[in-house]
Amino acid sequence: MKKRLLVTRRLPEETHARAMRDYDAVLNAEDRPYSTDDLVALSSQFDAYLVCLTEKLPTTAIERLSPRLRVISTFSVGYEHVDVGAARAKGIPVGNAPNGVTIATAEIAMLLILGAARRAPEGERLIAQRQWSGWAPMALLGRRLNGKRLGIYGYGKIGQAVARRARAFDMEIHYHSRTRRPPAEEQGAIYHATLESLMASSDVLSIHAPSSPQTRHSINARTLAHLPRGALVVNTARGDLVADDDLIAALGSGQVGYAGLDVFEGEPNHHPGYLGLDNAMLLPHMGTSAIEARIEMGNEALDNIDAHFAGKPLPHGVN
Ligand code: DGY
Repeated sequence: MKKRLLVTRRLPEETHARAMRDYDAVLNAEDRPYSTDDLVALSSQFDAYLVCLTEKLPTTAIERLSPRLRVISTFSVGYEHVDVGAARAKGIPVGNAPNGVTIATAEIAMLLILGAARRAPEGERLIAQRQWSGWAPMALLGRRLNGKRLGIYGYGKIGQAVARRARAFDMEIHYHSRTRRPPAEEQGAIYHATLESLMASSDVLSIHAPSSPQTRHSINARTLAHLPRGALVVNTARGDLVADDDLIAALGSGQVGYAGLDVFEGEPNHHPGYLGLDNAMLLPHMGTSAIEARIEMGNEALDNIDAHFAGKPLPHGVN
């Protein structure tokens, strides 16, 4: 008999078709939200959950899950919305989708880097608000990227994909991660043992570290003070890495010249202070919003569930 699978959000047709082929799958074509309590209550009816980052499963929820639920796979590389330690303690393997997101997220990081460096949001507003009076030599002057130092905070797959793209713009790559990467991954990038040292060497800072208690608000008034004045800050990782009040103050004072943000703490809410700023380019968490990425993410998430029911370790297990 097919295992019963709950897919909590509307996903690509390809993912739906595979889920329906291999499981007794309940899809969510209307994309209505499932609350944590819904997921606890429904767990006695399902063997597997394919969740997204919008579904929160903290310790208290994991502890109340029915013993029927045997595996959880998330349609995301980030898995901070599931308490993976509590799941492990309960014998529930958790997997993520770590590869399909890489190129799409790196592309959005480049979009934000370019948009911030060349003041694209201000230009767009000028036209949208019918304020453009014509070409002028000194209007909307930004800065070129060539020869600038790109500081990559978190040098995993996405950080390295951003580095590859930025090299084509003749940027000099610096990075900070918990451990130094082997030369094949560094590709000449300059390692910094501390975030502060990285920030002191970044004309553009691009954030790619995971959300964790250690990284939460690591971009704050103290660390922002290490940036060269007027540096750009781009975040396509998680909003809670940034202390919003501090970044907004730095954007106001000119310590940070421009921010490009795709993610926000507490999203879809975001700090209202960003809205009043000319020097911020804001996107609604679109990093992985490319159909190719979504299809790969669906396959990776389903691969985890398939492997579990085949008695194998999850290919993308995180606990
Ligand atoms: C992820 O995969 O964690 C992304 O943030 C989803 O867009």
